[in-house]
Amino acid sequence: MWWYTLPMIMYTFFDTYNFSGKTIIPFNTHAGSSDGGTYQTIREFEPDATVKDGLAISGGSAFDGSTEDAVKSWLAGLE
Ligand SMILES: Cc1cc2nc3c(=O)[nH]c(=O)nc-3n(C[C@H](O)[C@H](O)[C@H](O)COP(=O)(O)O)c2cc1C
Repeated sequence: MWWYTLPMIMYTFFDTYNFSGKTIIPFNTHAGSSDGGTYQTIREFEPDATVKDGLAISGGSAFDGSTEDAVKSWLAGLE
């Protein structure tokens, strides 16, 4: 999350590539904004892609490992 949205490089990424027919699995780190609506933004950018439920975790908890179980359970749910 940067300034309540995707970092600009991600806008460029979605502008540059065609994700029609692809599956996008979003995830991000943040400092309090969670996904900030960015997964919905990705769905709007890529209407012909399948965008799965993502996982937002705070940068601090990613660093200290306290969200490891949440990551594992999210990954298992994607199978
Ligand atoms: C320019 C900039 C803007 C940011 N804007 C947000 C924001 O709007 N919301 C948020 O939750 N975190 C924001 N962050 C925090 C980053 O998401 C966070 O630094 C990143 O996820 C990595 O986590 P960490 O710094 O705890 O390692 C911002 C960080 C930077 C450098």
